[in-house]
Amino acid sequence: MADLLVLYYSVGGSVRRMAELVAEGIERVPHASARLRTVPRVFTNIGDEKAIPADGPPYCELEDLERCAGLALGSPTRFGNMAAPLKHFWDGTSLLWRRGALAGKPACVFTSTASLHGGQETTLVSMMLPLLHHGMLILGLPYTQAELDATRAGGTPYGPSHFAGTADDFAVSAEERALCIAQGRRLAEVALKLS
Ligand SMILES: Cc1cc2nc3c(=O)[nH]c(=O)nc-3n(C[C@H](O)[C@H](O)[C@H](O)COP(=O)(O)O)c2cc1C
Repeated sequence: MADLLVLYYSVGGSVRRMAELVAEGIERVPHASARLRTVPRVFTNIGDEKAIPADGPPYCELEDLERCAGLALGSPTRFGNMAAPLKHFWDGTSLLWRRGALAGKPACVFTSTASLHGGQETTLVSMMLPLLHHGMLILGLPYTQAELDATRAGGTPYGPSHFAGTADDFAVSAEERALCIAQGRRLAEVALKLS
């Protein structure tokens, strides 16, 4: 079995819905299983951020990263960048980095935004940077996925994305959904080939 880690941060539920679809894509591949993990919020004195939902998956441990055959990383877009709690988590992975523990493992990224042109692609690229430093093999989405041309909402060659609206209440569109599942499948298939 290839154990694929789906690590995400979500406050409003949009990235969480995407993570569940990526996991569904992974689980559709025989001999692949998905493990969902999240990270705690980082406290600020700004005070306007809601807590992450208590009914989510466990917090990610370094061991989860070490034992996974591949990684899907999801974050809300925050000012065109990955959310601080995820960046904080990656800043605590230098022990793994020194040992090259993640080098050669496949990885992909996904995000959600409030506005259609609110920085999905910059966020996806920002999420790739720590993964590249760790030596991970970044997977995007190929244009052989017809939904990349058809979408009127999210979906990029850099990874799945979702246009959630300012209240985070837009449903994941059919194309966004298909691209999340396709990305999960692709990650699992490549992980199995590499192992
Ligand atoms: C501090 C902060 C910064 C944000 N920055 C952006 C942004 O740059 N572009 C955008 O479209 N949405 C931005 N948003 C909105 C979130 O990206 C959007 O609501 C996302 O879907 C939330 O995902 P979640 O429901 O999984 O928490 C921001 C939200 C917060 C709280």
